[in-house]
Amino acid sequence: MRQVTTRIDEIVDGIYRISHWSGESTITFNQFLIADERPTLVHAGRYGDYEGVRDAISQVIDPAKLQFMILLHFEADECGGMNRFLEAAPDLVLAGSWLSVEVNLRRWGYRGELRAFKNGETLDLGAHRLRFLETPHVHHWDSLMLFDETTKSMFPADLFMQSGDQPPVVTENLGSEMCATYRSLGIFAHEEPVRRVVDTIERLEPRWVHAMHGGTLAREALPGYVRALREEEFAFDGRLLGRRIAPSLG
Ligand SMILES: [Fe+2]
Ligand SMILES: [Fe+2]
Repeated sequence: MRQVTTRIDEIVDGIYRISHWSGESTITFNQFLIADERPTLVHAGRYGDYEGVRDAISQVIDPAKLQFMILLHFEADECGGMNRFLEAAPDLVLAGSWLSVEVNLRRWGYRGELRAFKNGETLDLGAHRLRFLETPHVHHWDSLMLFDETTKSMFPADLFMQSGDQPPVVTENLGSEMCATYRSLGIFAHEEPVRRVVDTIERLEPRWVHAMHGGTLAREALPGYVRALREEEFAFDGRLLGRRIAPSLG
């Protein structure tokens, strides 16, 4: 039988990583709880992960107190559980990029309140202040990233992914492995929009990079991953989730 584990660890000043590992996939699925005056969950998780995520949150705060849930693009691991969180917290606000909200969420049957953010806008959670960065075509056209100005934490969604059941904080350089995984998965159409965002991230000088899959990168680990993204190929090469669909593109 598959071993399913969900763990929660505080990474830095009220930012908790909730990590779900089931062995059915080669990556962890993470959410981040920001326990603040206005408690916030980054990535709602998949529909079936809801109970595990809720139970992990309840080790820190009452899930009914959640005020914001933020999705960084429209995909099941970002928002599959979105309606389920309303059971405990009916006034919860679901926030996303302007594009996620206007193109998808307003027309998807989501029952709660929505809030759309554009590039450079901020959200004050109390001690933490989030800046929204629109990062189109870094994976999806509605892609968004967050930068917490208080802890200098980057939330890059699927960028800086590492395979395997990684520890909460990663210092190892897995940059080349990351690029190989991206080539196999086929989640980026092209390197160019990603490299522009990597430049922006580097200028922000994050102390923490909270990857959605894998562990949080400590500051000293970031240069290895940045170098790999600048120097190695990682765009779609004809494979989707490892399956070759287009030999002419490979
Ligand atoms: Fe994704
Ligand atoms: Fe993801």
